[in-house]
Amino acid sequence: MDGAKQMGIRNVSSICSLTQLDDHDLSRLLEKPRLTTNIERQRSFDERSLSELPTLLVRGSYDNFDTLHSPAVRSGIDTPASWDGNTFDPHPIVAEAWEALRRSLVYFRGQPVGTVAAYDHASEEVLNYDQVFVRDFVPSALAFLMNGEPEVVKNFLLKTLQLQGWEKKIDRFKLGEGVMPASFKVLHDPVRKLDMIVADFGESAIGRVAPVDSGFWWIILLRAYTKSTGDLSLAERPECQKGIKLILMLCLAEGFDTFPTLLCADGCSMIDRRMDVYGYPIEIQALFYMALRCALMMLKHDGEGKDCIERIEKRLHALSYHMRSYFWLDFQQLNDIYRYKTEEYSHTAVNKFNVIPDSIPDWIFDFMPMRGGYFIGNVSPARMDFRWFCLGNCVAILSSLATPEQSMAIMDLIEARWDELVGEMPLKIAYPAIESHEWRIVTGCDPKNTRWSYHNGGSWPVLLWLLTAACIKTGRPQIARQAIDLAETRLLKDGWPEYYDGKLGRFIGKQARKYQTWSIAGYLVAKMMLEDPSHLGMISLEEDKQRKTLIKRSSSWNC
Ligand code: GLC
Repeated sequence: MDGAKQMGIRNVSSICSLTQLDDHDLSRLLEKPRLTTNIERQRSFDERSLSELPTLLVRGSYDNFDTLHSPAVRSGIDTPASWDGNTFDPHPIVAEAWEALRRSLVYFRGQPVGTVAAYDHASEEVLNYDQVFVRDFVPSALAFLMNGEPEVVKNFLLKTLQLQGWEKKIDRFKLGEGVMPASFKVLHDPVRKLDMIVADFGESAIGRVAPVDSGFWWIILLRAYTKSTGDLSLAERPECQKGIKLILMLCLAEGFDTFPTLLCADGCSMIDRRMDVYGYPIEIQALFYMALRCALMMLKHDGEGKDCIERIEKRLHALSYHMRSYFWLDFQQLNDIYRYKTEEYSHTAVNKFNVIPDSIPDWIFDFMPMRGGYFIGNVSPARMDFRWFCLGNCVAILSSLATPEQSMAIMDLIEARWDELVGEMPLKIAYPAIESHEWRIVTGCDPKNTRWSYHNGGSWPVLLWLLTAACIKTGRPQIARQAIDLAETRLLKDGWPEYYDGKLGRFIGKQARKYQTWSIAGYLVAKMMLEDPSHLGMISLEEDKQRKTLIKRSSSWNC
């Protein structure tokens, strides 16, 4: 039986889709009274300067960025944003969530610089959950920005930028200059009254993989900060401009690549363990695309910047074509692949990557609805990973890597496969799970990633904010509301777990941390966006007119 029908969301209307509104309407919706801009002395940043950061707010110019908006300034846990006195009930767990989020703040020399990954005192095994993770801080940052508290976000951006400048080595091998840390930790020496930072660029991480996503999230967050506060001066600082360029230099260098997508090692992003996400994982490609577009908005058109801008534009052009053509899967495309001929040589090949139809997994034939589609997990020679990955698809919608038709099709798929992708706890990180022999081969017998657990088909509450943002962008807030309702029945009661296990996400994850900060922040961001959709502008990019494709492949593209 159709899961979505069962859950009563099939009739969710997509008529008032934002993507169908003209640009004027969209910017009107996203725009709020323009706030003020921080003016700052241009100077090099050192550790002392955090406490000296001026907070004076004055109006500046926004030439280099698209329309800016700022949220109304709210503060304190007593005035949570999630209540507008009208449509929305202030859910009792909102205040608790704010309290827990504030408890997770990490201070460096008296200034907040991030949030700890998990504040789980009951757990004997802390591992690195007591650190500030770059990717984990993103929903915290958005929550603070939406609540009118940008300071911690600015401090975080500057602190991580400073860490980027460190020399990074694994054994005797030096990493690229632009690599951003996966996480950092503040060590307090109470005797000498000194705070010190230790950072991990992959040299301590399980598996020793550098986090490719960190740099992209940093750029995306810098743009969110700029958009939310109207403070252009931060992104315009020479050190920020340099930081952006260093990150991009790692990705835009020419080499042996025949594809515009970014080649990666397994475990270099949110799924930070071996899970068959090496090659060209969708999560990284979508973040790459979004970071490129954000960088384009922030880079100055000076000598070096101009060169970088040109390279970004070329890459965006090639990347969007590649992703929209080869990563996209819907019923029609699946049927085409099913009938592919193999061993085709030359430019006329239809089956360009020589995918053998026998390698198509059985589950996909039932999973693929007649209406709907998604970006598959990975495409490389003779290899298509048909798994659904939530983060990559949501970011594809938010960055407009997905065309408006593809965005609609992704939402159609989520509705049609509600039981599988949302179930009892939003949201499946990947679908389906890998089991038995395949699990042994693919994960290297990883006991944390057994079927329907953790990265292998587990359900992660943090993904709620991404789903909500995608729902608002595609004009289907009702879907987000359904998902939030589900989360609200459990999250506080269960102590904000990191992830849930099981096909329906019913069980608190086997090794899940409690009071996982991004579960808390993700919930708050989802709530605040639903109440005030203008927040979406911070994390969403409108369609890039230059890259509008004319490719039409199947019905789900034209719905
Ligand atoms: C786990 C997750 C990773 C996250 C980290 C800290 O390793 O896989 O995505 O950043 O925990 O929460």
